[in-house]
Amino acid sequence: MRKNLLMIIAALSLATVAFATESQIWGEMRIQNILEYGKEGSTHLGPLFTLLQNKYFAWIFLGVLIGVPLAFYIHYLIIGPKVFPHSAKKYYAFNLYNRIIHQVAAISFLVIIPTGFIIVFGDFFGGGTFVRMAKNLHGIFTIPFTIVVIPMALMWLKEALFNMDDVKWFMILGGYLSKEKKPILAGKFNAGQKMWYWVAILGGITMILSGAFMFFLDFKMQMLHDLTGLSQIDMLRAAAIIHNVMGFAIVAMFITHVYMSMFAIKGAVHSIITGYVEEEEVKILHSTWYKKLRDQGKF
Ligand code: HEM
Repeated sequence: MRKNLLMIIAALSLATVAFATESQIWGEMRIQNILEYGKEGSTHLGPLFTLLQNKYFAWIFLGVLIGVPLAFYIHYLIIGPKVFPHSAKKYYAFNLYNRIIHQVAAISFLVIIPTGFIIVFGDFFGGGTFVRMAKNLHGIFTIPFTIVVIPMALMWLKEALFNMDDVKWFMILGGYLSKEKKPILAGKFNAGQKMWYWVAILGGITMILSGAFMFFLDFKMQMLHDLTGLSQIDMLRAAAIIHNVMGFAIVAMFITHVYMSMFAIKGAVHSIITGYVEEEEVKILHSTWYKKLRDQGKF
């Protein structure tokens, strides 16, 4: 199964490289193929893009960067973390394969996100070598994420499908607004974790594609041209708009994910390093999963 998966990834990568060599993305033509500003067909998305880029994107990113951690800081002060004993029974929930895939995604994001911010605030950082280096790292660390995104999607797909437990979870916001430790209905992943899964996977793939579009400048996607009627420059603008808007959601959810696993649930981060989850944490935060594991004699 895993061997087949690696074969598919290798075939897809080779197909992409083969396609790329056929198009103009490496050659001189990649610039010439882009219509100049003011030429007919070049300006459909121009005013919208200029407005968003000049007035909104950087401010929204700044709002997310300050607002989301601030909300969690207040949550930490008022509600505080959920602390579970680390001395009781543990269950081996994440095997080595799960952990390596996850760690590659985590390391990629820890570079992709800060460097993305340096690009957004390139003016503030004075441009030049520093910002160019950030741009290169942003692209280079997209490669490991691209390699693991499909394996990660497949390894957690079953646990990430929504069900009735999730409706109840949303109604009490997972119990995170209360200090009480009452069992919460959730399987291996709760509704919040499932949301992150879908944003990270579908959003991540959208970021890879829109990013590649901007990086290579001239992908010559005739089908997309025909479908949308957009010129190459407008497709680049559309890619930039999508990349920014999806970026807001991914950054906000990523900060949430790190807050949850490092601060709100004390010590949860160990599960993705060692593979083990604590009995009481599962019993309280994933009660449906706990019942299933207990019936199977695993606790
Ligand atoms: C410093 C970075 C990160 C830390 C500390 C971290 C921590 C964790 C932990 C502790 C879990 C297990 C949750 C549990 O079952 O209790 C987990 C699961 C998961 N992680 Fe991460 N993670 C990080 C980065 C990422 C990145 C970059 C992605 C995807 C791009 C990601 C996607 C997921 C997904 C989809 C799950 C399963 C659902 C969930 O628990 O939210 N993580 N992570």
